[in-house]
Amino acid sequence: MNGHIQALGGTDRSRALFERAQKSLAGGISSSSRLTSTGPHPYPLYMDSGSGARIRDIDGNEYIDYLISYGSAVLGHASPLLTEALTAVLHTGTMFGTCNTPEVELAELICEMVPCAELVRFANSGSEAVQGAVRAARGHTGRSKILKFEGHYHGWSDTLAISNRPGAEEAGPYGTPHSVPHSPGIPDGVVGDVVVCPWNDPEALRTCLDAHRGEIAAVICEPIVANNACTMPAPGFLNLLREECTARDVVLVFDEVCTGFRTGPGGAQTMFGVVPDLAVFSKALGGGLPIAAFAGQRHVMEPMARGHVKHGGTYNASPLCATSALVTLRELNRPDVGKRIEESGRRVMEAIRRAAHDRRVPCAVQGVGGMFQVVFTPDGAPTRQYRDLLGTDQARYDAFRHELLKRGIHTNAYGMACWFVSAAVTEDELDATCGAVEEAFAVL
Ligand SMILES: Cc1ncc(COP(=O)(O)O)c(C=O)c1O
Repeated sequence: MNGHIQALGGTDRSRALFERAQKSLAGGISSSSRLTSTGPHPYPLYMDSGSGARIRDIDGNEYIDYLISYGSAVLGHASPLLTEALTAVLHTGTMFGTCNTPEVELAELICEMVPCAELVRFANSGSEAVQGAVRAARGHTGRSKILKFEGHYHGWSDTLAISNRPGAEEAGPYGTPHSVPHSPGIPDGVVGDVVVCPWNDPEALRTCLDAHRGEIAAVICEPIVANNACTMPAPGFLNLLREECTARDVVLVFDEVCTGFRTGPGGAQTMFGVVPDLAVFSKALGGGLPIAAFAGQRHVMEPMARGHVKHGGTYNASPLCATSALVTLRELNRPDVGKRIEESGRRVMEAIRRAAHDRRVPCAVQGVGGMFQVVFTPDGAPTRQYRDLLGTDQARYDAFRHELLKRGIHTNAYGMACWFVSAAVTEDELDATCGAVEEAFAVL
């Protein structure tokens, strides 16, 4: 995979494979988001190899990858470090369903890196680990309701797949939004246990908490809202969440599935200096293998630690996945690695801002170096909450993304998602990316 990125050629093999896939795979896909994640074609692109920051599809087109498996392949694809460590595990057994050494070393490292982490449990996906954190919070408080913020994403499971992306017509009043199930099949009882609140609004937060006084087990949020185009927390808003939760004896959960270990060794809680009671991790944690964790302060995790509150999983912290996470976190704990991710992302963010300014296209580039997004808001202002995203120019985002893809830059097709940067991206690849951004704005 050497040389320059070529303009996107044909994708006939992807088209044919999608036709074949629909005969055996429901909808031809393994996750509902896979169709949107590979547009602009009416079929997904099938990737078959990757190396460093690059991936290649089955038609032989090569791309610089800023999806990196939704942030998971943080060290790059086929990282030599991981390949070596995981090959050794393949020779000695990948999974025993028993306690093992790497899981202990990994838990110790997480406790060292993450401020809120005094006790850790492992799972296999972000959705599962969110469920674990919710169980821990409900078990600890003896209450049922969870307060979540409109537009924040916490996985596909029933528990919190509520008001992820409600349409304007169903979302309800601004200050007291309806709890809108993300899919048919989510029981009313579950929906009724979720209180929805707008993000970045202190007044609305206090009103919601007051209206459900004594009923709320946990408040959960994405501290940087990766799934709302990296909407940032307003200054002081996370501190306010902390104060309100402490005052009301409510468990504060940071869903750091996207921010964890990517925005620095201690994640968003270190970046913003606000320590939650519980936090959830996945994606960058595993470096490309499926592993997740929830971790928190001793008093909240204690009922689970003594076996009173239950949590299980055949595959939790297998030697294969725990080793992958251990190798990945040791790398991400090195200051030079985090710095490289941050600086690489900042270069691309700046290139987008410059190109937009030169072409007089109103937009905001928001987030941090490791994860960011461009939003085409009418006045170029950054978004503050989910409903701002309903007013952005999606068609323009789609066109931008399509122009990038044609120039060999692979990003998430969904404008409410974001770009993820790997530690493996080279200076040449950053130059190519910035060049493609300039060209894309020229034809927008
Ligand atoms: C913030 C956040 N939480 C939870 C999840 C769910 O993780 P998974 O897809 O591994 O179940 C995601 C997935 O994108 C996420 O972005």
